[in-house]
Amino acid sequence: MKFFIDTANLKDIQEAYDLGVLDGVTTNPSLMAKEGIKGDENVKAHYKAICDIVDNNVSAEVIATDFESMIKEGEELAKIDDKIVVKIPMIKDGVKAIKYLTSQEIRTNCTLIFSPGQALLAAKAGASYVSPFIGRLDDIAIDGLALIEQIVNIYDNYGFSTEVLAASVRHTMHLIQCAEIGADVVTCPLNVITSLLNHPLTDSGLEKFLADHKKANS
Ligand code: E4P
Repeated sequence: MKFFIDTANLKDIQEAYDLGVLDGVTTNPSLMAKEGIKGDENVKAHYKAICDIVDNNVSAEVIATDFESMIKEGEELAKIDDKIVVKIPMIKDGVKAIKYLTSQEIRTNCTLIFSPGQALLAAKAGASYVSPFIGRLDDIAIDGLALIEQIVNIYDNYGFSTEVLAASVRHTMHLIQCAEIGADVVTCPLNVITSLLNHPLTDSGLEKFLADHKKANS
């Protein structure tokens, strides 16, 4: 399973990378705005800075919503670095743009997926990744993890190479359940990844080991 971090914050990206378990980064326009990144050149420079930290897989989202502008913006984003994956929203022109960019060997991540039908369309268009949003479905009392399971089953049935990138992951149980279901990737904030470290028996066990060692060697 791949771990992506869902942020545009360079410090958090570096911290997750330094842990040695990071496979990529996802951003979106809201996350870029949260970091105060604005203006085409600043946006491109920020994506480049992210690419310079990680080994691969940096999702950069287009702002355009019509086919021509989306492919132009996607091609511009892809030029920033080979690590860029162009993130395209699940709309009609987005599906066409995914088909086109895939034919140009540009990797894509189809975002804002909330149904199995949308995931099927994205895979048929050739998306490299599909991003179903678990937390936002849970927020409206629809089971987000059930959607991940449906998509994993559908892709398995037909051998689609599109990877299921579970997004809008809010806590460790989302992440663990995605792993049980067999999602290819999860993207989540830094605290969800670091929370995986925690167990009280680890803390008390280590404390006892160190105390016993100290006693034996004093
Ligand atoms: C996915 O790529 C999105 O950036 C993200 O996971 C959305 O998460 P949110 O619902 O917590 O904003």
